[in-house]
Amino acid sequence: MDLPGTLEKRDGEYYLGGCKLEELTREYGTPLLVMDEETIRRNARYYLDNLKQYYPQSNVYYASKAFLNMGICRIMEEEGMGLDVVSGGELYTALSAGFPADRIIMHGNNKSRRDIIQAIRSGIRAIVVDNDDELDRIEKIGKAMGSIIPVMLRVVPALEAVTHPHLQTGMGSKFGFKMHQGQARKAMRKLSRSEVMKPVGLHCHLGSQITDADIYLEAAEEVLLLAAEFKQLWDEGFALNLGGGFAVAHNEEEESFGFDSFLPEISQKVISLSRELNLPLPTLEFEPGRSIMATAGVTLYTLGARKEVDGLGTFVPVDGGMSDNIRPALYEAKYNAFVVNKEAEKRALETVTIAGRLCESGDNLINEIELPRIKAGDLLAVTCTGAYTYPMASNYNGLPRPAVVLVGNGQASTLIKGESYEDILQRNEIPAHLQKDEDQYLAL
Ligand SMILES: Cc1ncc(COP(=O)(O)O)c(C=O)c1O
Repeated sequence: MDLPGTLEKRDGEYYLGGCKLEELTREYGTPLLVMDEETIRRNARYYLDNLKQYYPQSNVYYASKAFLNMGICRIMEEEGMGLDVVSGGELYTALSAGFPADRIIMHGNNKSRRDIIQAIRSGIRAIVVDNDDELDRIEKIGKAMGSIIPVMLRVVPALEAVTHPHLQTGMGSKFGFKMHQGQARKAMRKLSRSEVMKPVGLHCHLGSQITDADIYLEAAEEVLLLAAEFKQLWDEGFALNLGGGFAVAHNEEEESFGFDSFLPEISQKVISLSRELNLPLPTLEFEPGRSIMATAGVTLYTLGARKEVDGLGTFVPVDGGMSDNIRPALYEAKYNAFVVNKEAEKRALETVTIAGRLCESGDNLINEIELPRIKAGDLLAVTCTGAYTYPMASNYNGLPRPAVVLVGNGQASTLIKGESYEDILQRNEIPAHLQKDEDQYLAL
């Protein structure tokens, strides 16, 4: 199981980034997402340093959909990362944080005209084109704006990663130009005739939570073979971007992807195949998201009650749930947890289900976990929650989204403020005909 590097126990108390977890909840309340800065930086460097060592002509783009805010953008910039965004909103966040546009690439399977214009205006490194309509749209907008637009094609090799169906992005998904249907080749031909789009590379992303390294090797081969058919396009070189998807062990049963042991193989494969195909050596790129953020996050909850249900066991609800972490309900993600308060640890072990507080029967955070006998008022820490939790958070059931704090060197600082009820109502309006005029009662 992958845990944040700075999680430690001193005199029976848990600390993350040198901050006592229990104290953080007194200051910020619960639920609370705590992100460990050292783990984020260490994970980012793991990719950047290892890749540079084996394949110097390389780039790593953090897949910001995993968890994005302005503070994280600053960390990524300092570490020398690029950024992958999927919408005008993510691009706006990155640019607002001062992230350099020429280190950003934009994805998305249905970019709006506004997204495309914003991407062109800000001068990002490349738009990753997903479909034929988008090629036409960019061509039209580019001509009107008088711009030359660097683009990559998102191509989909005839492969399917072994992972949860909701995390597959291969042949059977809505993403990219399918190679086995001839879409990729057709799109490349169209691109070669473009007056405004400058092809700068090929991209593929196979899915998420992938443990099998071989599928990346197979994908690299398919994509390089396609690149070789269009050699004339790469006079200024090109990028081979193999996406992200490297698995994280959220619990004892899962295994993580060994990126460092995979690198010699993939580097060798790309170098030898490029030579064989008489291609310029591509810039090798990756886009990890989950594996940079997941392990850095711990969510703290206060337990609220106990309930025995015949045939199903004991349910213990927390003060959050699918509104701050929808992954268990969305794709059966499995998490681990520990009880934070010191005295709880002395109690006998039992098996319980950690339920959320949302009005959905599917809102269970952890099914059947062994913990010391927990009760209302205890504090629970769910680990490995730094990725794809907060970005998917909602106000379902009128719950304010929790605060997110960044910890390091014994200091905690706010990354995202917790919401209040007023925040939830901020964009609500009562239509004029439904408003109650106090004066109408005075006249009675
Ligand atoms: C195009 C693309 N790149 C990278 C990623 C990041 O994947 P992961 O967070 O599994 O590393 C995703 C995730 O969906 C993606 O769609």
